[in-house]
Amino acid sequence: MSLETTRPAWGTRMGFIFAAAGSAVGLGNIWKFPYITGENGGGLFVLIYLGCVVLVGLPIMISEVMIGNRSQQSPVGAFQFFRRGGSPWGIVGWFGVLAGFVLLSYYSIVAGWSLNYVYLALSNSFHGLGAGAISGIFDELYLSGARNILWHTLFMCIVVVIVVGGVRKGIEKTCNLLMPLLFLIVFGIMIYSIFLPNHGFLKALDFIFYPHVEKLTHRGVLEALGHSFFTLSLGMGAMITYGSYLSERKEILHSSFFISILDTVVALMACMMIYPVVFAFGYDAEAGPGLVFKTLPLVFSQLPGGYLLSVLFFLLLAFAALSSAISLQEVVTSTVIDRLNWNRRKATLITASVIFIFGVPSALAGSGGLFSGWADIFGMNFFDSMDFLASNWMLPLSGLFVAIFVGWAISDSQRRDAFGAELHAKWKYDAFNMLVRYVTPAMVFLVFMHKIGFLKLIGLV
Ligand code: TRP
Repeated sequence: MSLETTRPAWGTRMGFIFAAAGSAVGLGNIWKFPYITGENGGGLFVLIYLGCVVLVGLPIMISEVMIGNRSQQSPVGAFQFFRRGGSPWGIVGWFGVLAGFVLLSYYSIVAGWSLNYVYLALSNSFHGLGAGAISGIFDELYLSGARNILWHTLFMCIVVVIVVGGVRKGIEKTCNLLMPLLFLIVFGIMIYSIFLPNHGFLKALDFIFYPHVEKLTHRGVLEALGHSFFTLSLGMGAMITYGSYLSERKEILHSSFFISILDTVVALMACMMIYPVVFAFGYDAEAGPGLVFKTLPLVFSQLPGGYLLSVLFFLLLAFAALSSAISLQEVVTSTVIDRLNWNRRKATLITASVIFIFGVPSALAGSGGLFSGWADIFGMNFFDSMDFLASNWMLPLSGLFVAIFVGWAISDSQRRDAFGAELHAKWKYDAFNMLVRYVTPAMVFLVFMHKIGFLKLIGLV
């Protein structure tokens, strides 16, 4: 295994887009978005989420890709590139790497569930079971430390094999294969959903798109904003790292647009395949995190062609999780390669092992066991604590820093240059500039003020 002497690069522009879309489209789109949409009453929540994607997500996505692309470095070096001489901004890069570390450790557990469900679907385990038995299958898995660890191990091994394979031969190749398949499967199940009984599809459309004003709370607005970071893979250097393997500056803007659109479309399609099923059979739209694992197998078990549908669906979930997890691991791998000069295999094996071990308490969260005291102290189990820490605090915080960095810490000429302002119509740079300097940071800042209770203090909400 040779050292990477020159920086790896994507083989094609489409390769970059598939890899970045692979990172963005994950459990966030298929597992989380549909259930938080349900919890927040649909319609208006979706609209606000779309607003957040445009006003906050997109500018930060462009910022990340452009600093990675211009510096040709992983996050830590990327921040230092623009501000030479012992700049403290490198810390923001490290912070992102740490966020990735935390995120992957528990992401792998949910990904493991989806692998387990592929297996269950293949062995026709849902056939003929009723609601109680099917939710029992999930509860049993959740409570079993040993099974969680087994699937966590398997999933991390797959991630390692792909990342060790390298940027072009591992990541790009995998995503080029998985992404089109994923679109095909979502699209297929969505079409199938159109023909469900009881006007399920129409009810779903109404639920997803009609703004039910009375159902939205300010918590929902926060959730929409937080989710726009999570779903676009922002705030931990994933897009910086993937951008650094891109050589064409002209592609930054259009690719970022395209990736955000793909991600949003998949999230909406995921709702349009899941909710028709829910409504057609009169299930509860507010089923929470169990929506995918408890409701769908039940419904599939009653439908004609349900065997195939459930195999396809859980495969889809596993694919989506895999292409996202690869990007999380790649950030850590590439930082270690750049900083410590290790080779790719060593960097990946060692960091993934540490991430794996760090994930064990999350895997055991359901079974209590070793870490049962944790919940008493922090009010939620280890798994939920990690999710809360990463997606509610670390990602938005580091995203805020990215916006401040690109909007304020680097010079206007550096910003124009990295954006490739001369390659695009003037208004595009102007719009970006406005958003990244004022709108985006202000919105994220407001959210933080709300989180620490400041807005309540001054009587605003
Ligand atoms: N975007 C992925 C999802 O929707 C999760 C993810 C992958 C992620 N890489 C990330 C989130 C980097 C934040 C940062 O499931």
